[in-house]
Amino acid sequence: MPRAVRIAPSILSADFARLGAELRAVTDAGADLIHIDVMDGHFVPNLTIGPGVVKALKPHSGLPFDVHLMIAPADPFIPQFASSGADIITVHAEAGPHLHRSLALIRDQGCEAGVSLNPSTPAEAVAPVLDAVDLVLVMSVNPGFAGQSFIDSQLDKLDRLRRMIDDSGRDIALEVDGGINAETGRRAAEAGADILVAGTAAFAGGEESYAENILRLRGNA
Ligand code: DX5
Ligand code: ZN
Repeated sequence: MPRAVRIAPSILSADFARLGAELRAVTDAGADLIHIDVMDGHFVPNLTIGPGVVKALKPHSGLPFDVHLMIAPADPFIPQFASSGADIITVHAEAGPHLHRSLALIRDQGCEAGVSLNPSTPAEAVAPVLDAVDLVLVMSVNPGFAGQSFIDSQLDKLDRLRRMIDDSGRDIALEVDGGINAETGRRAAEAGADILVAGTAAFAGGEESYAENILRLRGNA
């Protein structure tokens, strides 16, 4: 029996011309968090959203803003994302030489701290910082774009991280991001994920479909 999961729609797959309405719709449809993908054209080969957009979106949803920074360096921008309304800020372990410092800075700014691992980075990379994180994010695609296929080898990483987290006795969320649909989401949850990020699968079919999309991702439809 897979564990209960929270669903975090990634607004990267929303209609960018109507972002406020899209946030309201996905919130009303039963989402648990709003996942915001920040890309810099340097750490990943795409450009997306900055703190000004996060600030403008904040009044449109009461859900926690889960801000995924795919930028290097990250530290100079962490205070701006925090003051713009981020509740969780996640940095990549690969994005800089001072991961522990970045995580401490996020908590100093009053946010929950997340660390993300690219598909080629081993689970063990987070072992030395487990006391400094509230969330671990496993990338199940190479970050940069929505609509890619789930990389199966990340299931084993989720399983390892679930055991590391349980053994630590700490309250740390385990999130998975990339290529998540009802089927891959179920397998990721069985491997230990408790937050599923979904772009394409959450926003498919327009507003009337969001509630059903989210139910399906939860394994309830
Ligand atoms: C990928 C982003 C993801 C992505 C998810 O770089 O971090 O959040 O938008 O999109 P799907 O669910 O379509 O793979
Ligand atoms: Zn993401």
